Amino acid sequence: MSEALKLGFSPFAPPAKGVLVVFCDEALRFGSATAKAIAPASGLVARAAKAERFTGKSGSTLELAVPEGLKADRLVVIGAGKAKGLEQKDLLKLGGIAMGKLPMSASDATVFADLPGGAMKAEQAADLAQGIVLRAYAFDRYKTKRKVDEKPPEQRTITVCVSAAAAVGKAYATREAINGGVLMARDLVNEPANVLYPEEFARRTLALKKAGVAVEVLDIPALKKLGMNALLGVGQGSRRESRVVVMRWNGGKAGDAPVAFIGKGVCFDTGGISIKGASGMEDMKGDMAGAACVTGLMQALAARKAKVNAVGLIGLVENMPDGNAQRPGDIVTSMSGQTIEIINTDAEGRLVLGDVIWYAAKRFKPKFMVDLATLTGAIIVALGQEYAGMFANDDKLAERLAKAGEATGEKVWRMPLAPEYDKMIDSKFADMKNTGGSRWGGAITAAQFIQRHVAEKTPWAHLDIAGTGFDSRQTDINRSWGSGWGVRLLDRLVKDYYEK
Ligand code: BES
Ligand code: MN
Ligand code: ZN
Repeated sequence: MSEALKLGFSPFAPPAKGVLVVFCDEALRFGSATAKAIAPASGLVARAAKAERFTGKSGSTLELAVPEGLKADRLVVIGAGKAKGLEQKDLLKLGGIAMGKLPMSASDATVFADLPGGAMKAEQAADLAQGIVLRAYAFDRYKTKRKVDEKPPEQRTITVCVSAAAAVGKAYATREAINGGVLMARDLVNEPANVLYPEEFARRTLALKKAGVAVEVLDIPALKKLGMNALLGVGQGSRRESRVVVMRWNGGKAGDAPVAFIGKGVCFDTGGISIKGASGMEDMKGDMAGAACVTGLMQALAARKAKVNAVGLIGLVENMPDGNAQRPGDIVTSMSGQTIEIINTDAEGRLVLGDVIWYAAKRFKPKFMVDLATLTGAIIVALGQEYAGMFANDDKLAERLAKAGEATGEKVWRMPLAPEYDKMIDSKFADMKNTGGSRWGGAITAAQFIQRHVAEKTPWAHLDIAGTGFDSRQTDINRSWGSGWGVRLLDRLVKDYYEK
């Protein structure tokens, strides 16, 4: 973030300067704290609402510059619809909209966490504040030139007015920890591949030690020793060395089996010898969004001191064409001992995940595993950018993920696994091949491949985030390319079902 954002909470008081943001319902009703604060301008607001046909519909806004009677330079009224039964994702959205309405020049803003039904509860006000911070994120560290009107102020102070400032501080601390993980994931996804290659990614995970995460980096000799030949095969055409990072957070009972998260970390995916077309290839710097999410999640769990044992494993490689690159037709033996015929070197993510997921189950015997990967274009064809594709060998885990998705707005849609699809990856020469050979059901055959590497009958879910990990449409709570998708979803899964 270029601008430093200072967020604070205070009791309700009309601001002496800057922007004032308030909420109303679809009958243009305000909470009592709000009504009191804007009383001198209430006639003006009613007139403006009429003139602009502003009715308080959810997400709609009304803006007044230099409103007579108020000390604020600007009044923003945001519609909260019925303003009843607002859930976390609704409040995040309202916070995001509030942030989005601050003019670039504004250095001070006051947001009234107040609704017609009464002042927002501590948890609600904290959700609102979380949305503000998520929206404020921008990845602009490589912008050296800016027009004057594009320049944000050196510092922005946002004051959220609440009724119980002490309680809100505690509720917000948790969300601040989660946001830290989301923004870390976004930074990693946005970073270009000349800067963020496997070794550098691994180096950045060391920052998690500060929060109490144990970080272990496996280098090439270690990976060779483990027999991760499928992963190593993907990276062998790159000048950059592959790495696997193991992150452990032990906030639960000693000896309690951990929950496990595994991420695809292809720092750049050219396709390898089965090279991709030039158009849009730059997006493949984001082919490590799964690994970014796992890293951000581990940071979030540790920062909020989650009462759970969790492990995060990421497979970091760069998929490049080169004299030493893997060829179509090559056969590799994965850590599981199974042999794989490489049909297409662009189906590399499953090769990376196969080894890491096998290792995760064998070493940690987790309660369950969730892997995240920008795995297939086919899942984007199926689901677009709204839902991530979910594949699971366990109904309970799938159900819990779906619920956490609805609660957070990071939604997942279950897709099938079946023996008929599994057969499609049988190979003439080896135990399996790395594509189904046809584009039909491409996300499913990819998931079947990963399932063949799930050891110990571990409950497992695979999230294909090719559509949600980056370039997610400009949303109310994210304007940057990297979305940090999945951190809030998985934090919620842990919190609701696995924390003691
Ligand atoms: N990283 C890509 C998938 C991808 C595509 C992610 C677009 C995000 C946006 C993956 O490694 C890939 O290349 N998949 C191929 C698989 C095919 C060769 C079987 C695909 O989807 O075309
Ligand atoms: Mn690929
Ligand atoms: Zn890829």
